[in-house]
Amino acid sequence: MIRFDDVSFGYNDKGGTVQHISFTLKKACITAIIGANGAGKSTVSKLMRGLIRPSSGRVFLEEQDMAGMKVSQLAARIGFLFQNPDRQICKNTVREELLFSLQFTVPDRDRQAACCEEVLAALCLNPDDDPMVLSRGERQRVAMATAMVHKPELLILDEPTTGLDYRECTEIMDYVRSLNRNGTTVAMVCHDMEIVQDYADEVLVMSAGRLIASGSTAAVFRNREILDAASLLPPQIVDLSLRLGEGYENISDVDGMAKAIAGKGAKA
Ligand SMILES: Nc1ncnc2c1ncn2[C@@H]1O[C@H](COP(=O)(O)OP(=O)(O)O)[C@@H](O)[C@H]1O
Ligand SMILES: [Mg+2]
Repeated sequence: MIRFDDVSFGYNDKGGTVQHISFTLKKACITAIIGANGAGKSTVSKLMRGLIRPSSGRVFLEEQDMAGMKVSQLAARIGFLFQNPDRQICKNTVREELLFSLQFTVPDRDRQAACCEEVLAALCLNPDDDPMVLSRGERQRVAMATAMVHKPELLILDEPTTGLDYRECTEIMDYVRSLNRNGTTVAMVCHDMEIVQDYADEVLVMSAGRLIASGSTAAVFRNREILDAASLLPPQIVDLSLRLGEGYENISDVDGMAKAIAGKGAKA
């Protein structure tokens, strides 16, 4: 879907914020970008969306070089959720907010209204609410709605669950999963390894501006060297399965662990 070919970028003359990044974002998957604070995750997500352009190297969208594509062209195909939802919200009601976002991507008025109704229902939003008086979790849902109301092929989410409680988090992520099952490719920056474990198929691991590993979530979380290099801890259930060792190594959820323990107990 997206391919980075030896991409480097710096915010100033000193350069080097992210360096020599190459990867392919798999279509129809949920890919998590993980790494410590300042590793360059948000920078990579902005490069993916074309909001900033590489200092060197190239980014391709479906094998088309993004250098030749305008930000507005990219907006129709790529939805983006900023790390802070308030950066995304500027209107007085939820409906105005959605229509504002749609005017750049869906020209037809009837289609705009239909897109609006669909996303309002899916995310349980009241169109007449003032976004700024909503809770952090509700504002996050509004920002999420504006990011994907026009049904982009690719949705990039920068920390979609930060600041949310467990229920809000599950609601947002289950919605992301339902979009993904309907064909949307998803890339998400996430620092909660439990969420990555539960929702991501693939993982890109960043450390100090470099991509240090990529692969399936199961494989990356079982590689202590990579996690240590990126200053990350594995999800609890994976950690436990690795500590228990033989017979438990491949367990990645609570049900699997319960069954394995019950099975061993029965044998004993
Ligand atoms: N707008 C900016 N101007 C200058 N430096 C920035 C800017 N945004 C981020 N940086 C710096 O770039 C590095 C990578 O930041 P970022 O991509 O936001 O990391 P992450 O999302 O992994 O925490 C950090 O050192 C950060 O301070
Ligand atoms: Mg960030």
